[in-house]
This record gives sequence, structure tokens and C-alpha cells, in this order.
Amino acid sequence: MAPEDSAEAAPLLRSFERRFLAARALSSFPWQSLEEKLRDSSGSELLLDILQKPSGDSITLCESTAIISHGTTGLVTWNAALYLAEWAMENPAGFAHRTVLELGSGAGLTGLAICKMCRPRAYVFSDCHSHVLEQLQGNVLLNGLSLEPNVAALAQHPEHDTADAESPRVMVARVDWDVVTVPQLAAFQPDIVIAADVLYCPETVLSLVGVLQKLSACQKDQRVPDAYVAFTIRNPETCQLFTTELGRAGIPWEEVPRHDQKLFPYEEHSEMAILKLML
Ligand SMILES: C[S@@+](CC[C@H](N)C(=O)[O-])C[C@H]1O[C@@H](n2cnc3c(N)ncnc32)[C@H](O)[C@@H]1O
Repeated sequence: MAPEDSAEAAPLLRSFERRFLAARALSSFPWQSLEEKLRDSSGSELLLDILQKPSGDSITLCESTAIISHGTTGLVTWNAALYLAEWAMENPAGFAHRTVLELGSGAGLTGLAICKMCRPRAYVFSDCHSHVLEQLQGNVLLNGLSLEPNVAALAQHPEHDTADAESPRVMVARVDWDVVTVPQLAAFQPDIVIAADVLYCPETVLSLVGVLQKLSACQKDQRVPDAYVAFTIRNPETCQLFTTELGRAGIPWEEVPRHDQKLFPYEEHSEMAILKLML
């Protein structure tokens, strides 16, 4: 293919790749555009490119097909989870050999991507909903990671702390932002706290800022954890409420520059952001 042909074919290639990654039905693939493109081109490079499917480590997830089920939004993966996972994979050094606490983990995709790609020392998935926690545990096991039974076990196994340890120590914890205490959060000894798509109504915004305030009282080696919150900008007022409440709680923040590399098949037009919080 001439260079100009390959630039023209790039969107078609991406479209195949996205549908492949999202395990979409074959009938939804853009076969007609492919046929037209192949009629116009002399070589078979486009076909070869399409057949070279994306490669790399994989994540297996059991999740619901409904956006809300069992009274929770946590049984499906939301776009900001994918966006945060992409950002983490572009910045693995921020996670390597550190203990990560994720708030409102939902189905667990972000954490599983970080566990597989960013070499954290320990990873605490957390949520407050029983069905979500049950599915989360299943998803962790489905991906070949073993679960520590409690915080004490998470802190043990010093032999796992060597730089070349293969798997992080992983725990799934019930953490309800409204009732968790500072000592309970401090026991996880987090170096970094992350959350994706947890700003969807005023009540959750207030609860989230509350737990972030508690985390700002958790020091490890005289440092408070770094914190990153990713969200889809659906309703500007909810985002505004979040930043206003952060200001009220005395938590400065800055927006993390957008990353361009899209690995996951989320909607092209949804606007997303990650805020870094100085707890
Ligand atoms: C929209 S889902 C996002 C799940 C996942 N982070 C993602 O992006 O796919 C929001 C999650 O936050 C959890 N959540 C909401 N309020 C919470 C609270 N007060 N304490 C702990 N988790 C909470 C829900 O159970 C749910 O799993």
C-alpha cells in the first residue's frame, strides 16, 4: 500500500481492531467498507494488517450487560475505568512497587490492568456493594491472581517485596466511604489512591470527598498518598460540585494532561478527565 493509502485505511483498521477487542458480533464489523477499499487497492497489506490482531496480555472479566442491576452501577465497566487504565499503562512507574488502594472498583478492569501491566507491590480493590464485591473477587481469581484474606496478610510475605516479584499481593475489601474510619484506611498503607467513574450524583460526590479527607490523614513514611480520580464529564454541575467540595475540604487539585493512545473500545465522543489531588 502507498503511504497515502495506508493513512486512508487507518480508520477502517481501527474500526476492526475496536470491534475485535470488544468481542463484538462478526456482523457488526465494517465488511462493506473493507470490500470497497480492497477493490481500490492493488496489494493485500490491508488484509494482513487486519489479520494481525492486537496482541499482548489479556484480561478476562465477568460483568453484567445492564448498566444498573441489583441496585448498583458497579457490575459493569464504565468508560472512565478504561481511560484510567490506559493512563496507568502509559505511566507504569507511578505504580511500580507501590501499594494501590482503589475506591469503588466495580467490575475491576482498571485494577486488573494495573496489576498485569504496572507491577504494583500490592493492590486493594474496594467497593461497598455485596454483589459487586462477589463479582470482583471472581474477576481477580479469573485472572490468575490470588487473594489475601485480610490486611494483616497483605502486609506480610516480605519475600514478595523484591523488585522482581511477578504478581502483586491483592485484596478485595469492603470499604464504604461513609462509614470507613481513618485507622481502617491507614491499615492498607496506600501509596496511591485511585477511583474511576465515581462522580455520578451529588450524594456520591460528597461521600467521595469525605473519604478523601479521611485519606489525607493517612500517612505512610510521613507521606500522604497520591490520589487520582477519573471521570466522564456527563453533567458539568456534578464535576463543578466535586471541585467546589475539594476546595471546601482544602484539597488542591490539577488536571492530568490528556493521553492520546486509545487501547480500549470506548465511545469516541465521551469527554473524560483525570484529576490529581494533593491530599
Ligand atoms: C459507576 S460505578 C464505577 C465502577 C468502576 N470504577 C468503573 O469505572 O467501571 C461506581 C462504583 O462506586 C461504588 N460506590 C458508590 N458509592 C460508594 C460508597 N459510598 N462507598 C464505596 N463504594 C461506593 C459503587 O458500588 C460502584 O461499584
